[in-house]
Amino acid sequence: MTTLIAFSGSLRADSFNTRILKALPALAPEGTNIALFDIAELPMYNQDLDADTVPPIVEALRAAIAEADGVIIAGPEYSGSYSGATKNLIDWASRPFMKGPIIGKRSMVIGATPGPGGGARVVEATSALLTALGGTVVGRANAAAIHEKISADAHVITDEEFAQQLRDGLAAF
Ligand SMILES: Cc1cc2nc3c(=O)[nH]c(=O)nc-3n(C[C@H](O)[C@H](O)[C@H](O)COP(=O)(O)O)c2cc1C
Repeated sequence: MTTLIAFSGSLRADSFNTRILKALPALAPEGTNIALFDIAELPMYNQDLDADTVPPIVEALRAAIAEADGVIIAGPEYSGSYSGATKNLIDWASRPFMKGPIIGKRSMVIGATPGPGGGARVVEATSALLTALGGTVVGRANAAAIHEKISADAHVITDEEFAQQLRDGLAAF
């Protein structure tokens, strides 16, 4: 059994990136379990909060990453890079110093936009962050015009090329 923990870097209720994460179980190899972790209530990283006792959601975040075989981050592209929410979760998961659960972790990075850029820059920037933390990015997927590639009423990827990128990434864990 491969256990993956998935995060959306968009807090928007109808986020395309969150919807992509919900579509992943149908594309994953048998024996892969994907759990979506909601980071909407994660406080902004503050080293004063990062003490012997941390907020319960931070404890849960760190435990979920530590127990998982890999991490999936699907992020919106904001101003040519990752969102503050994506960076914030990575900052919390990168600590304690040298022992943060995301350090050295295998990951898959996804980016999708309704526009023509297709999230290529957010995938690159997020991958660079995870690599800087000693991780290996085993899969990458991005899509332009995402509103035309995911069904409106269900979490199904309707574009075969994008679906295959996602399948390949999940199979690489
Ligand atoms: C603050 C902000 C910055 C954005 N910057 C970019 C950008 O640099 N490139 C891009 O392709 N789309 C950009 N967009 C559009 C997002 O890709 C679009 O809103 C997308 O739907 C966000 O992802 P989500 O659906 O998962 O929330 C930006 C949107 C916002 C709100």
